[in-house]
Amino acid sequence: MTGIAFQEQSDYRSLSEAASEQLLTLMHRKPDAVICLATGATPVLTYQLLVEKITAQQVDISRITFVKLDEWMGLSPEDPATCEVFLQQHILKPLGVAPENYISFRSDNADDSECARIVEQITQRGGLDLCVLGIGKNGHLGLNEPDEQLEPACHITHLDERTRLHEMLKQANIPVEKGITLGLRDILAAREVLLLVSGEGKQRAFAQFKEGKVTPQIPASFLWLHPKTTCLYCDR
Ligand code: GLP
Repeated sequence: MTGIAFQEQSDYRSLSEAASEQLLTLMHRKPDAVICLATGATPVLTYQLLVEKITAQQVDISRITFVKLDEWMGLSPEDPATCEVFLQQHILKPLGVAPENYISFRSDNADDSECARIVEQITQRGGLDLCVLGIGKNGHLGLNEPDEQLEPACHITHLDERTRLHEMLKQANIPVEKGITLGLRDILAAREVLLLVSGEGKQRAFAQFKEGKVTPQIPASFLWLHPKTTCLYCDR
């Protein structure tokens, strides 16, 4: 018996189908759910299928709140590399999400007060119902980077050198060295977590994660402390 429900999927499409269904089920069950979203390559098809299903089934999402998990720092909000542009493109614009139903870090000029502002907004909405996450090639979760000690709260972080090579940053207009992220404490406070693992270069971090030991060298391993995490994964 583990604390994490591992569900192997045959391929990326099946993984995305299952993930979009889990999101949809929550939206039906709790029409005012607060849902935190990761960015990156892994959830792209999940979000596309979710948008298609919401549109086809005319699901009322007018009371759902979406939360941006993390953001690269120093970029203008229009920079194509930002998590902001990613979420606008894949979720917010296609679904016509109202600005008041979206909680989002700024990418430019953020400081610690930005963390306080975001955490306060999440609290006012009753906390996160679901947090959709990916795992970094270095085992990071959001932008909680591997280190000897981890900052549990929402914080500004220096990006690990492997994270600076992330595909999203190849489009950035300037070099990015910092990020802002919900902390492990915020993630572990979510009522449910959905971890998606797919894509090149994840095998090593995922194998370490699956060992079931909690280590700051693999921040994703802190999900072993969470009571309701589902991990959908595939090799392709
Ligand atoms: C970035 C994002 C995270 C994401 C991770 C994995 O750090 N900011 O939110 O989970 O990368 O990305 P990918 O799915 O592209 O491997």
